[in-house]
Amino acid sequence: MPTLTYVVAGARPNFMKIAAVLHELRKYPDVFTPRVVHTGQHYDYALSQVFLKQLGIGAPDYFLNVGSGSHAFQTGQVLMAFEKLIMEERPNLVIVVGDINSTLAAALAAVKCGVTVAHVEAGLRSFDMTMPEEINRLLTDRISHYLFVSEPSGMDNLKNEGCDMSHAHLVGNVMIDTLTRHITEIRAMVLPQTLSSVKTGTYAVCTLHRPSNVDDKESLTRAMDVIAHAARRVDTLLFAAHPRTVKNIAAFGLQNRIDSHNVKIVEPLGYFEFIHLVDNAKFVLTDSGGIQEETTWLGVPCITLRESTERPLTCASGTNTVTGLEVQKVSIASDAAMRFMRSEHKPPTLWDGCAVLRILDVLC
Ligand code: UD1
Repeated sequence: MPTLTYVVAGARPNFMKIAAVLHELRKYPDVFTPRVVHTGQHYDYALSQVFLKQLGIGAPDYFLNVGSGSHAFQTGQVLMAFEKLIMEERPNLVIVVGDINSTLAAALAAVKCGVTVAHVEAGLRSFDMTMPEEINRLLTDRISHYLFVSEPSGMDNLKNEGCDMSHAHLVGNVMIDTLTRHITEIRAMVLPQTLSSVKTGTYAVCTLHRPSNVDDKESLTRAMDVIAHAARRVDTLLFAAHPRTVKNIAAFGLQNRIDSHNVKIVEPLGYFEFIHLVDNAKFVLTDSGGIQEETTWLGVPCITLRESTERPLTCASGTNTVTGLEVQKVSIASDAAMRFMRSEHKPPTLWDGCAVLRILDVLC
């Protein structure tokens, strides 16, 4: 009997990870019966369906429809809905990815029902317990049976926490599997007219959505000033703004901080459009985790508007600089970005497009 395997996703950064896992699992119907469970943590087309479509995930087998809400509400909703599903269908294996509320809730529900759980992207640590994602990472790793790790720091962190290392496997980065699979198509694509006005190497791309950066007026004001400052290095700075950020820019009346600059706010982009733009950008400003990794593989400088990163390999590889919201640091990093020699850059060894193959080796 093939292993009934639930692959769980809830929010934007999960989809590029589950796409790689599903792509491989679907090749072995005698071994795995994969089922996609979408918790519904993200529900807007631009944060969810566009990725299901572009990355070949297709319609989810189950949609839990939990929506937005406080952390407790969201986590609790997934816990209850996912437990119900597990009790009905009794899967043999649950695969969770990343560090969002749905990741932790699905792992917890499964493990309490006696189902084996595999956590993809285990071991990453920012050591900042004010980040909801750090709490999700720690707890998910503590209860999962298989820990699939994307970079060496993850193995060190798990070891330092006293984890039984026979559960931990350094496999590489599944998100990079998705990137390598689609990169030729992405490079060949023609951007829609609304985005095609920017010329290769003359613009920067920005994303921002962390609660610590966008949920209070002072931080968001500093972030907008930093963005406007960095934008002076390039002709245009494309700001692909998350709904949460757009809402708060309006609520705090901050639009005028960037109005007079060459900053263009656009809607959140699809995967293909976004990677295409990043690939041709001079540099990227972000507080996302995944984008730090994608820029590392692409060899595009990334300026991380956070105080820490759980992905130190991206800094060691030379593309990523963690600056927080300090104008001085962003200024130095953007100057360095303008001089960055992409042709001399090499991606990390295990970020080679074969991470899921290594995962399947372990699971089989
Ligand atoms: C979540 C993840 C974060 C991830 C991010 C990617 C947690 C704790 N956080 O944060 O790790 O980096 O997704 O985007 O799980 N909203 C919409 N449309 C949607 C979803 C949300 O407009 O489809 C708005 C709602 O106003 C909502 C707000 O965004 O209140 C925040 O939603 P939330 O689910 O907390 O997600 P993120 O902040 O995106």
